[in-house]
Amino acid sequence: MKDELNSIQVETLEKIQNAYTSKELQDIKVAVLGKKGSLTSVLRGMGKLSKEERPVVGELANKVRETISAEIDQKSNVLEEQAMEEQLKKEAIDVTLPGRPVQFGGPHLLTSIIEEIEDLFIGMGFEIKEGPEVETDYYNFEALNLPKNHPARDMQDTFYITNELLLRTHTSPVQARTMNQYKGTQAVKMICPGKVYRRDTDDATHSHQFTQIEGLYVDKDVRMSDLKGILDKFAKKMFGQDRKIRLRPSFFPFTEPSVEMDISCKVCNGAGCSVCKKTGWIEILGAGMVHPRVLKMAGYDPEVYTGFAFGMGPDRIAMLKYGIDDIRQFYTNDKRFLRQYHHAKGGIL
Ligand code: PHE
Repeated sequence: MKDELNSIQVETLEKIQNAYTSKELQDIKVAVLGKKGSLTSVLRGMGKLSKEERPVVGELANKVRETISAEIDQKSNVLEEQAMEEQLKKEAIDVTLPGRPVQFGGPHLLTSIIEEIEDLFIGMGFEIKEGPEVETDYYNFEALNLPKNHPARDMQDTFYITNELLLRTHTSPVQARTMNQYKGTQAVKMICPGKVYRRDTDDATHSHQFTQIEGLYVDKDVRMSDLKGILDKFAKKMFGQDRKIRLRPSFFPFTEPSVEMDISCKVCNGAGCSVCKKTGWIEILGAGMVHPRVLKMAGYDPEVYTGFAFGMGPDRIAMLKYGIDDIRQFYTNDKRFLRQYHHAKGGIL
């Protein structure tokens, strides 16, 4: 019996040595130490032994069991470690591989232009105001000296929502709203950038949605020369110090007198070319002295307060500045077009 035990030990240890997987180890364990295992069946035969032999064989059997168990445990640890290492090797991340390129976004060119213009006017003491895009007929027209059925309403084809509600056709209602808010109690010096809408057929120079920036300066002694000075400064900062401006008489119901401002053409330096339609000048904005009736309607005494207003189109300014020949480019959101201008002044990259 002792021999049997010894040979079980020797054989089993060798098998353990040669095991390559936990499954094999488990099988060995069952085959030797399990209920029907070889060691177990030897122990079952102990009853046949003499009293003297029994404790000796018992002790040996226990030792064999312990040795085999310990060997299985140890080998099991080794196999687990190996498995873990193999897994880690498979899952290893190569940190030296080049990364995938990240696509950065950037502001829309119109946003950059608007921010650039805002900065210019903030530097001259103007504050930024906002107003609703769905506007009342009153603020869009009536408060600007355009009563119902006034023929000048036709200058701006309008998207009506109801008889009294519309999509604002210009940013001028924000002048009226701001003055109305202060009701003649204080000076106003503001600009208002925003979207405006007109029932135009879209083509290279028209879009049913575009942007405007309104300007308004009302105080006790504001003159036309202040308007000219500020617009001259704006034009030079925006388009270059060598630019000249000229004011031409025009008409807007909410300003009197009204003007249109041109800047000298940079392409031909005033000589006349296709960009300026051979005139040497490019039209940039409409402006004028706030009409006394508009001041009065908003609660300002036109005998005490005077002011100027202007309205310009960032779309047109961006087109001139960057040589873009189709306004629809701003609204069709072709990233290949937009991406070219992420570096424009005011951009984040
Ligand atoms: N609101 C005018 C337009 O859209 C522009 C303008 C604004 C003219 C302020 C004069 C003063 O055509």
